[in-house]
Amino acid sequence: MNWSKIIVFFIFFSHINTLFSQKNDIIPTPTEQTINSGFMEIENSPKIITENNFNSAATLFKNAIKKLDLNSKKRTKNKIKFSLNEKLSEEEYILKINKDQITIEALTETGAIFGFQSLYQLMNLNLKNGVVKLQNQVIKDSPRFKYRGMHLDVGRHMYPIAFIKKYLDGLAMLKFNNFHWHLTEDQGWRIEIEKYPELNNIGSYRDSTLIGHYSDKPWQFDKTRYGGFYTKKEIKEVVRYAEERGINVIPEIEMPGHSQAAVSSYPELGCTGEQVGVAPLWGVFKEIYCSKNETFDFLEEIIDEVAELFPGKYIHIGGDEAPKTNWKACGNCQNIINREELKDEHELQNYFITRMEKYINSKGKQIIGWDEILEGGLAPNATVMSWRGVIGGIEAAKMNHEVIMTPNATCYLDHYQAKDISNEPLAIGGYTPIEEIYNYEPIPEELDKSLHKYIIGAQGNVWTEYMKTSDHVEYMVFPRIFALSEVVWAEDRPSFNDFENKVTGMYPILDKMDINYSKHFERLEK
Ligand code: ACM
Ligand code: ZN
Repeated sequence: MNWSKIIVFFIFFSHINTLFSQKNDIIPTPTEQTINSGFMEIENSPKIITENNFNSAATLFKNAIKKLDLNSKKRTKNKIKFSLNEKLSEEEYILKINKDQITIEALTETGAIFGFQSLYQLMNLNLKNGVVKLQNQVIKDSPRFKYRGMHLDVGRHMYPIAFIKKYLDGLAMLKFNNFHWHLTEDQGWRIEIEKYPELNNIGSYRDSTLIGHYSDKPWQFDKTRYGGFYTKKEIKEVVRYAEERGINVIPEIEMPGHSQAAVSSYPELGCTGEQVGVAPLWGVFKEIYCSKNETFDFLEEIIDEVAELFPGKYIHIGGDEAPKTNWKACGNCQNIINREELKDEHELQNYFITRMEKYINSKGKQIIGWDEILEGGLAPNATVMSWRGVIGGIEAAKMNHEVIMTPNATCYLDHYQAKDISNEPLAIGGYTPIEEIYNYEPIPEELDKSLHKYIIGAQGNVWTEYMKTSDHVEYMVFPRIFALSEVVWAEDRPSFNDFENKVTGMYPILDKMDINYSKHFERLEK
């Protein structure tokens, strides 16, 4: 063979390769992906065979196919089979793509849904001129951590139910399995409670909101009424929508702090009994629940209604940032400290949380609390969300409690994602570029190996003081959520450069989902 022939041959093959090479990258990275020769072409909806009532997965597939807008509406011999494999673990799946059949094997519906999500990415990445052409392959996949969470604060700003569903679509695509819905705040109470209607009549609305950043002094306010709440019907709709996507919804009902909206609705719940307003400003406020019996009666009745709406095992009780100023000056609170022989107001907080935990446990639920619940003693069955760094998480693990890592430096998506903020939308501060999240290791180095099992996962938090619109939420969340999905799902992450290529390769999917993503891919300074 002479050189010119070799070159022609080479050009021919590289051309063939660009013509036929399929995109096989999935985020988060699957445990095992074996690429085989041959392709499957989907020009129209394959016949769907469903075993073991994997109906949610099958419905997701059906809807995804509709949105692909394939060339032909006729059926061909292509099939997709959702099938039971009893050898797999809870969230595991096997996705097999062959010439004329796709098989998704799973033990549970959740596993089948995750298998679908991988297929969803592959189908959308390989759609051209109304035809999906998939490379034959086998994916065997299961998550590293059992808790993979994303949070959304709807107290500071709230968003339509349609957006909550869109947010869930984003979480589902990346195989997150917990949506932490932060429903009560100083600036607004967002969940309908029938027994206490003033929570919604008064507590769901503020008269005014801070203009600009908290640090812009003097403070100015917009003097515009803002608010609303999610009805029980809407909440049920969200819970069902999440469930159909393998996502559990965790409601957060803050106590004893971040409760100014509740205290403004029922001033008798505070220590002073004074009328306060729903907060127009961001921050930490001293108007917290008093520790008297009436508060527990109130909170227990709220928990009754909340527990009925959310079928999952967790109720988040907050527990963070509760100044003890009013408790120190309150006869009721001081009487409890004396009666219960407590050392101080921190132990009173522990009494408060433990008492609520007992009630929540009696309803078959478990509490999660921010790491302040470690102060003054930890409620016996609590899961701790470590946000003020990782120390709280380590301490809780040492006490044999389960821990969800969400250290603010790494997991707070309300931070800036670019160093140069001149063109960035206003944020609370901080700097958490995507690479920082990508490099995050949820198990702290200093934690003894025997305690690793207590770190059940990690979560990204989205506090919305400065996010007035859902577009802004999307900008803060995407693409950093891709990095977090790798952290909580993948055993082995590719290099950051490869990850960047994978994410940018998925921009067309985000466009199709109408997600307003940022394009920052800043490197950490080494
Ligand atoms: C928190 O960021 N206050 C949990
Ligand atoms: Zn009090």
